[in-house]
Amino acid sequence: MSNNEIKMLPDKIIISKTDVKGKILYVNKEFCRISGFDRTELIGEPHNIIRHKDMPRGIFRLFWQTLQSGNEFNGFVKNYCKNNDYYWVFATVSPWFGADGKTLQGYFSARRLANPEGVKFFSDIYKTMLVQESGLSGSESLNDSMAHLTQLCENRGLSYDQLAVHYQTR
Ligand SMILES: Cc1cc2nc3c(=O)[nH]c(=O)nc-3n(C[C@H](O)[C@H](O)[C@H](O)COP(=O)(O)O)c2cc1C
Repeated sequence: MSNNEIKMLPDKIIISKTDVKGKILYVNKEFCRISGFDRTELIGEPHNIIRHKDMPRGIFRLFWQTLQSGNEFNGFVKNYCKNNDYYWVFATVSPWFGADGKTLQGYFSARRLANPEGVKFFSDIYKTMLVQESGLSGSESLNDSMAHLTQLCENRGLSYDQLAVHYQTR
């Protein structure tokens, strides 16, 4: 099985839409092209179908906390392809609401080619988080690894979201 990095094209965006729990409701063509999954293999599945094992769980805890507190999430994510390849993206995820503009229907994610400097910076942090997560059990380890991440960002006077945007746009 291959394990190559696939590079997103600079002019493309990968889009998906989920329900409130993260079950996939929509994917665009570029999602299928990069991931190697057919649309029929993705619709109705939980979004962790493309989770890469190098992504620490602590980052997803922060991800869900951010969304559930009504905020948009920006971040660097390594994703898994069906043939075991992987690709890095800079993802922007936001809530989408029903016709009343108030009732949460789910979430919407748009992913772009990730800035290589950001990939280098965050992949090193994610590695440390993974080691922390393997040393402890359950939710304690997630809280620890998430605290490691937020502390690192706070040391620079920024939130994770702000630091991610900073690395993507520099
Ligand atoms: C709109 C939306 C997009 C998501 N996109 C990704 C993604 O690209 N890659 C990923 O690993 N998880 C993504 N997730 C998070 C997954 O739902 C899941 O929380 C994560 O993969 C961690 O898996 P786990 O919950 O089994 O630990 C997304 C969630 C939502 C709501």
